[in-house]
Amino acid sequence: SWTPASFIEQTVASLKEQLGNDKVVMALSGGVDSSVAAMLLHRAIGSNLYCIFVDNGLLRKNEFEQVLETYRGLGLNIKGVDAKQQFYDALRGISDPEAKRKAIGRTFIEIFDEEAHKIQDVKWLGQGTIYPDVIESVSVNGPSVTIKSHHNVGGLPERMKLKVIEPLRSLFKDEVREVGYALGLPKAIIGRHPFPGPGLGIRILGEVTPEKVRILQEADDIYIEALRRSGWYDKIWQAGAILLPIHSVGVMGDERTYEQVVALRAVHSTDGMTADWVHLPYELLADISNTIINRVKGVNRVVYDISSKPPATIEWE
Ligand code: XMP
Repeated sequence: SWTPASFIEQTVASLKEQLGNDKVVMALSGGVDSSVAAMLLHRAIGSNLYCIFVDNGLLRKNEFEQVLETYRGLGLNIKGVDAKQQFYDALRGISDPEAKRKAIGRTFIEIFDEEAHKIQDVKWLGQGTIYPDVIESVSVNGPSVTIKSHHNVGGLPERMKLKVIEPLRSLFKDEVREVGYALGLPKAIIGRHPFPGPGLGIRILGEVTPEKVRILQEADDIYIEALRRSGWYDKIWQAGAILLPIHSVGVMGDERTYEQVVALRAVHSTDGMTADWVHLPYELLADISNTIINRVKGVNRVVYDISSKPPATIEWE
């Protein structure tokens, strides 16, 4: 019968046989799937696995540094690439959600391609594709293909003449998590909420600017930390803050303010296809709202999203 240990043993053996002394390049995101796939490849070929982690400037607060450190601690041969400015430049003046996704995806491919070309004789592209992704990409369910491909590197393998290697192709998500724990990956990675590839870029409604990213990172960090402290983080599928493209009136002392609005979203789900909003306790919401309004300059109002999917998608864009 299937056990994480037997899967790891068999997969590592067959990866060794298939790859020999070949080099593999892979993009890591801090997400569960790419991390587990990388650890398997690392067990099989060690430093012949070249991992690349791109800071697109749209990650959560401190996430790039923390995740990079975790990967280094695991012994992965990983390069962190600060590409924040390139993404901000690519996003300037764009407010349509799909146009933002395309700009982010295109910029990611440019940067990854450039980094991959610096590695001599690389033959393979490693990917964290899991079984549900395989099913979805052959279904007629068009949009889900792009929705689920965290790093949409489509076209890249052909362009670079790379063969694709996907050690998790036969696994479901819960099996991936079990394998991850058995490989020694920390809960900080395995228990992490799903986070979209375009990141905060699609949680800042309308045009993305570095200043809006800073505001949203602060608000989101306060929210996520409060969920962790209260024990809610592990009970829910996904949570995050959204920066709305409107200003609302407030008062501070005897001054009138006209500042931005942050929406909080938290959902229960099993696969992201349907979702129910989470009934977080009022006291917790009150605490989060107060903290955000007191600490995050530029925000004077917080609202909570009480919409389920369908029809409301998990992301606002
Ligand atoms: P929606 O908003 O469609 O989200 O209800 C369902 C799940 O997919 C994630 N999501 C994305 N992931 N690139 C991604 O890698 C995207 O463009 C994207 N859009 C949505 C979302 O976070 C949720 O987990």
